[in-house]
This record gives sequence, C-alpha cells and structure tokens, in this order.
Amino acid sequence: MTDQRLLWWNRFRYTLYTPVYDWIVGSFQSKRKQSIEQLQARPEDPVLLIGAGTGLDLPFLLKFTDITAVDITPAMLRRLESRARQLELAVTTKVMDGARLEFEDASFRVVVLHLILAVMPDPRACLQEVVRVLEPGGEVVVFDKFLPDDRRAGPLRRVIDALARFLATSINRQTRSLLEDLELEVHRDEPVAWGGLFRILYLRKPRTGHL
Ligand SMILES: C[S@@+](CC[C@H](N)C(=O)[O-])C[C@H]1O[C@@H](n2cnc3c(N)ncnc32)[C@H](O)[C@@H]1O
Repeated sequence: MTDQRLLWWNRFRYTLYTPVYDWIVGSFQSKRKQSIEQLQARPEDPVLLIGAGTGLDLPFLLKFTDITAVDITPAMLRRLESRARQLELAVTTKVMDGARLEFEDASFRVVVLHLILAVMPDPRACLQEVVRVLEPGGEVVVFDKFLPDDRRAGPLRRVIDALARFLATSINRQTRSLLEDLELEVHRDEPVAWGGLFRILYLRKPRTGHL
C-alpha cells in the first residue's frame, strides 16, 4: 500500500475503534504513569503527544500548561478534547500525520510517543520529525510493543505480527534499528509488561551537535 493509503487505513480502523478504545487499552494506565514520571521538564515546557488517541495520557500530564496533541483520526481527538475538558486541562489539538509534523524546528521540550511507533507505517520518519521539533536537551518518552533487539521473530511470531498489523499494530519492530543514527540518546529501554513485549524508553536529544 502507498503511504496515503496506509494513512487512510489507519484513520479508518481507528475511527471504528474509537468507541471501544478506552475499554480495550485502559488497563495500561500504570505504565503510562511510569513512562511520564520519567520526565524532568518544567510545567511551562511545551509538550507534544503524537498519535495522542483519546487522551489516556492526559491524567498524568496535569502539571503541564502547554500541551499539543496530534492524531490522524478526528474521532479520537474529539474524545481527547472531551477528556481534557473534564480534567480542566488546556490542550491544543490538531489532525496531523506524525511523520509530517507541521511545527517549527525546536518547538517542543517533550514528546510523548505512547502506542504509536508500532502503529505508524513509517516510525523512522516520525522519529526524524521528533528530533527536528525537539529543542536541544529535549526529552522523549516511549511506551510500546517491541521485539527485543537480541531476538529474531520466529515463524509463529511473524504470523501473529501479520494479523496484529492488519488489526492495529506491529509487534516485531526493534528499538535499536528504529533509533539507529538518530540524534537521540537512549537513557532507558526496559521491558515493563507482557513478558517483555511492552517496553518503556527514555530518550534525550543532545544539547549540542551530533552524537
Ligand atoms: C494505538 S493508538 C494510541 C493512542 C494513544 N497514544 C494511547 O497511548 O492510547 C494509535 C493512535 O495513532 C493514531 N495514528 C495512526 N497513524 C498515525 C499517524 N501517521 N500520525 C498520527 N497519528 C496516527 C491513530 O489514529 C490512533 O489514535
């Protein structure tokens, strides 16, 4: 499929999932909290959520006053806006492809990538955009499904991956190859759930120059 068709497909299926999304994914709240608690940013620092979904991360971002949430699925963002109102949290929302961010360079201090790198057709393009829009010294938190770097996907896992990708998400992406040669330092990359399938990462853009 072309990039445009994959985008359309993601928007289509996540529009279908919107009404049941919180029910399916709601059990990960403690992992979201754990991921977001890694942030050292100040309350006034600008925060960007990519593939923000229905805003299940918002309850853990209450101290932040400058939050922007982007997603390609308008229905998901409408849920997020309603959650933000309930939480009395000011959030700017935009329908936007995470692989083509319409923001200036160095406009965010924090990027939250929860359950998005395994979903997007081109997660490397998203990470390149993250590096561009992050300030030097900026922080990235990731919570997602990955295949450990020291393992290869066997035949069964490849079949399950094909099915999972059709429904929602890959399970076979690996953090080392995703992050290779990017201007991001890996400070943490640890398994946190489901026998290591789910991992939490903490990344930082160096303050000066290339790695
Ligand atoms: C598994 S959900 C994760 C939502 C949220 N981050 C969370 O942790 O609950 C994936 C989200 O990514 C969005 N999405 C998929 N492809 C995208 C893209 N290229 N750019 C931005 N959002 C995208 C979907 O619409 C969906 O809301």
